[in-house]
Amino acid sequence: PERPAVPAQAPAARAATPGGRTARTRRYLMCPPTHFDVVYSINPWMDPGKPVDGALARLQWEGLLRAFQALGHRVELIEPLPGYPDMVFAANGATVIGGKVLSARFRHAERAAEGPAYLEWFRARGYETREAVHVNEGEGDYLAAGRYLLAGTGFRTDVRSHREAERFFGLPVAGLRLVDPRFYHLDTALAVLDDELIMYYPGAFSRESQGVLRVLYPDAIIATEADAEAFGLNAVSDGRHVLMPPAATHLMDELRERGFEPIGVELSELLKSGGSAKCCTLELRGGPR
Ligand code: ARG
Repeated sequence: PERPAVPAQAPAARAATPGGRTARTRRYLMCPPTHFDVVYSINPWMDPGKPVDGALARLQWEGLLRAFQALGHRVELIEPLPGYPDMVFAANGATVIGGKVLSARFRHAERAAEGPAYLEWFRARGYETREAVHVNEGEGDYLAAGRYLLAGTGFRTDVRSHREAERFFGLPVAGLRLVDPRFYHLDTALAVLDDELIMYYPGAFSRESQGVLRVLYPDAIIATEADAEAFGLNAVSDGRHVLMPPAATHLMDELRERGFEPIGVELSELLKSGGSAKCCTLELRGGPR
């Protein structure tokens, strides 16, 4: 089905739509996959023995970039560092809320230099920054959701980082424990659709965290294991459009039923590293333009 064309410079910040869902124009930071590859394994999806098609990865990544631009969103780019094949996953580069930037501090040495590289990008542009004391992998584990900051732990982000983020951003943190190694970052198990609504795969969370999610989001869209395995939760929502892997068909149906407009973006080459649409996208909330 054809989507109505959205001008690159949307005239109004908010576009009211008949389905009741409202898109808000966003700013995103992305990193070109120039040096993308799978040469080490730090999650169960990564197999260095399996070849990666660099040219296809580039085309798929550009497809995501163009999809954002076609919806009127503004995308900024950071220069990729040679020798850092995972830097394309910009979501892990920092957390940005209200123009304040908490730097990332990576769990694994293979990605360590990415934290300072992203931090420098923000410093050079005049953002208020904090160099993180505790290990955290940016928006991989921190998802801003209206009044709360949802925070993952268990595989990458140190639970002590949650306090640091809570103080720095001045937002109450809801800590969530991930228990399934396939869903090692919060953004592989849960997506924020708007300030009030999320979708998630319960099996990725501890029993206690499942209880927290049920209380906070009684109306949440519940993903199946197949949705989660297809990385359907690694989705980027602007409040109406939800960019996500096309293989998560059940989740797409659920989203349509709730008035959202899911848009399939194929990122199969990036999936070989355990990432998809959300992993490639860091939202810039507030701050200098
Ligand atoms: N290969 C990367 C890693 O394991 C993938 C990161 C995916 N990013 C994300 N936001 N979930 O660190």
